[in-house]
Amino acid sequence: MKLSKTILFDREAIASRIEDLAKTIDSDLAGTSPIALIALKGAMPMAMDLIRAMNTPFTVELIRAKSYEGTHSTGKVAFPIVPEGDWSDKTVLLIEDIIDTGHTATAISEYLRNDLNAQDIRIVSFLDKPSRREVECEANWVGFSIKDVFVVGYGMDYNEAYRDLPDIHTMEPSG
Ligand code: IMP
Ligand code: MG
Repeated sequence: MKLSKTILFDREAIASRIEDLAKTIDSDLAGTSPIALIALKGAMPMAMDLIRAMNTPFTVELIRAKSYEGTHSTGKVAFPIVPEGDWSDKTVLLIEDIIDTGHTATAISEYLRNDLNAQDIRIVSFLDKPSRREVECEANWVGFSIKDVFVVGYGMDYNEAYRDLPDIHTMEPSG
């Protein structure tokens, strides 16, 4: 796989969609005391942009979930970094870069509900590939729905490369 010259969403399109999402989530979360839970590493740029664009005051926690090797989801989700504590009075805003098979967001939600007793869990994902779902999983807010293409940039990687790109690109077969 190699980086395609095709840009799927450029930095202006990303910034403008983040502004819209921020306004919507602000009004939907009014009256709660939310924790912004950042799903490292892919969601970092999006989370920083989104939290700063929002007016809701957040506390911030990190979780690292890993399921991908190259462009393939392994279906098994490991948590190298997890938050701890009792979140029974908390609404959690889980911030994801992309929902693909749905295993990661589902596993994180289960951890939050079962291990941390989170009162409420809402999910925002910048991208969504609904055609790839293996388990039922729906984000409360989505930046863009896309077809089944592998994308990189704005935090998202191919074997850890390209997370630093400011625009979102597709990958294409090499050769
Ligand atoms: P899921 O568990 O299959 O829903 O996958 C979720 C995770 O896989 C995302 O948080 C990403 O880290 C990674 N992922 C899925 N699709 C892509 C992609 O097109 N590009 C980069 N990473 C992806
Ligand atoms: Mg991720």
